[in-house]
Amino acid sequence: MDLKPVTKKLYIETYGCQMNVSDSEIVGSIMKNIGYEQNDNPENANVIFINTCSIRDNAEQTVRKRLREIKALKKKNPRLTVGILGCMAERLKEKLIEEQEFVDLIVGPDAYRDLPKMIQTVESGRKAINVLLSEEETYAEIEPVRYGDNGISAFISIMRGCQNWCTYCVVPFTRGKERSRDPQTIVVEAQALFDKGYKEITLLGQNVNSYAWENENGNVGFPALLKMVAAVSPLLRVRFATSHPKDISDELILTIASHHNICNYIHLPVQSGSSAVLKKMHRKYTREWYLERIDTIKKHIPDVGLSTDIIAGFCTETEEDHQNTLSLMESVGYDYAFMFKYSERPDTIAAKRFADDVPDDVKSRRLQEIIKLQQEMSLRRNRADVGKIFEVLVEQVSKKSDADLAGRNSQNKMIVFPRKDFKPGDYVMVKVHDCTAATLIGTSVE
Ligand code: 5AD
Ligand code: SF4
Repeated sequence: MDLKPVTKKLYIETYGCQMNVSDSEIVGSIMKNIGYEQNDNPENANVIFINTCSIRDNAEQTVRKRLREIKALKKKNPRLTVGILGCMAERLKEKLIEEQEFVDLIVGPDAYRDLPKMIQTVESGRKAINVLLSEEETYAEIEPVRYGDNGISAFISIMRGCQNWCTYCVVPFTRGKERSRDPQTIVVEAQALFDKGYKEITLLGQNVNSYAWENENGNVGFPALLKMVAAVSPLLRVRFATSHPKDISDELILTIASHHNICNYIHLPVQSGSSAVLKKMHRKYTREWYLERIDTIKKHIPDVGLSTDIIAGFCTETEEDHQNTLSLMESVGYDYAFMFKYSERPDTIAAKRFADDVPDDVKSRRLQEIIKLQQEMSLRRNRADVGKIFEVLVEQVSKKSDADLAGRNSQNKMIVFPRKDFKPGDYVMVKVHDCTAATLIGTSVE
């Protein structure tokens, strides 16, 4: 008699960065191999996984709040398996099970291959924990299931971990040592996505520009990898995130400048505009060095789109340091920024060695000033695009109106324009005639 395999239902919820979204897709693939299908409703699930983030205290608080709701589901359905994945699992380890007794499974970012065994352990009535970090794991040959993307634009993880030891950051503790993935497997994944109709790939990693692969055939650095992926097709756009300023080499800048399908957009987290604060953060560059890199980028890629991350109120930050951050933002003219208040993370170098000495109200006020300046600059930068024509990769129908499409230009700016006969996946030349601080508004041109 043929027994049909029973499909069980998996519900994964993801917090934190794009790396976590990518990891959830790897987990989805591992779970699919043991008969679990992704399900959108936690109420119907046999297994619920929460993929967590530890970057700031409020990221952990959001997860804790969600866990209270999941606990209620488990009460209704005691056969439900609940697992905590990702950075909070790695940071808190067994403490998380002591704190959240209803949780069955704790698994860190490098241990997802162990999930089939861990699920068996839980099925036999025990708790399962694996938070081992690895120096090799890149999940290189696992083909991620793709959920939730638009079928046009996808992410490929090219490296894992981080060992820059920025003093504020929990990531080296939660994601372990830096390691790069075999470039051939990356190109194969990019080609497979292109064959399925995807038109844009974002190469992902904590520090993509320190990508380094070595074997008997030689070395592949990040510029070489970019060229290999760009060679899949001139119709495949290539993006990357995140870059560390220390590794923005001239070779990388020239590689971007010389390839039409490598996007003219760089996310280059500066964190602070004060050399004294940068030193305390262990960022390995000064304000002057960063500004010189920006000048070189602009010289070779004059229409470049730039974005950044900024932390307000790091240990010892004075009013003058803060003013230096504002003036650096003005000099660079970022198109976009992710802006945060400093949040002390347990066990980090800053938590161990420095006092968190900027009062919360001062941090908040500085952050507000940074946000206000960025909003003005985003609008200014968008206004400067009015009248220009851009090649837009259409991603979707506009959320605001069925009559419009939305897509991005090479500089990563969202552009909305009338639909006509175009469809997602098309490249369309669009002339911009208006804007807000967040979006360019245009019309297609022949
Ligand atoms: N507090 C506030 N922001 C932080 N980031 C990283 N660690 C902290 C922290 N402890 C920010 C940095 C980083 C981004 C992903 O999160 O700006 O680039
Ligand atoms: Fe991503 Fe960092 Fe959050 Fe981990 S802690 S999920 S690496 S943002």
